[in-house]
Amino acid sequence: MGDRGEAAHTGGLRADLAKRPADVAAMFDRVAQRYDLTNTVLSGGLDASWRRATRAALGARPGQTVLDVAAGTAVSTVELAAGGVHAVACDFSQGMLRAGAARPVPKVAGDAMALPLADESVDGVVISFGLRNVADPDAALREFRRVTRPGGTLVVCEFSSPTWTPFRTVYTEYLMRALPRIARAVSSNPDAYGYLAESIRAWPDQPALAARLQSAGWADVGWRNLTGGIVALHRGRKPRD
Ligand SMILES: C[S@@+](CC[C@H](N)C(=O)[O-])C[C@H]1O[C@@H](n2cnc3c(N)ncnc32)[C@H](O)[C@@H]1O
Repeated sequence: MGDRGEAAHTGGLRADLAKRPADVAAMFDRVAQRYDLTNTVLSGGLDASWRRATRAALGARPGQTVLDVAAGTAVSTVELAAGGVHAVACDFSQGMLRAGAARPVPKVAGDAMALPLADESVDGVVISFGLRNVADPDAALREFRRVTRPGGTLVVCEFSSPTWTPFRTVYTEYLMRALPRIARAVSSNPDAYGYLAESIRAWPDQPALAARLQSAGWADVGWRNLTGGIVALHRGRKPRD
């Protein structure tokens, strides 16, 4: 879980782009209380459709086991579990896991860079709006490959870069100006949403993230844009060797 003492200089309010695990976990602990509501408000209600698209991209069959890394309140895990899939939520923020305690999916505390799972123990891994917050995303992508069975699937759902320049300009304005203001009205930790805007702007675009999946050993890497590229779904397959 990391040393929460390290987060003292931020008071647990927000992380910065160094993404120290203790800062990130403490920030989400404080966001947890109203996380689901804030998410829905800030995304204009699109979050549910992004979760459905993530489940479709994974394409898990009934009875298969999938790990939802950085699952937060497990709202993303519940969607993955639809239709008889065994979906397990994993997160390092105890506050987020507690806020989702009533959701009927198994939950485990764990860090994306050192998952508490055996090698090749799951059929698929999903990480939704989580990889951008991980201190070493390349280490996490390799860790996801370790726990996935040969032939299994990885889906990364993450904020990305709108492809149409005028739309990208309007969206950047929304991120930097409107989003922090709306968050002040809705969130239990509005400071965290300054970090949200900064971390989205600093995140690799679609081709750059695809190259990182490939470098981590994922095959057949591709992506699909959602909402004009505000979000991208990257998909990879673990080679059978
Ligand atoms: C924006 S929330 C996403 C929650 C959920 N997947 C969803 O789609 O609503 C990001 C989550 O990532 C978690 N997280 C960030 N870095 C992590 C890490 N290294 N290991 C495990 N969880 C992490 C945070 O605690 C937080 O709950």
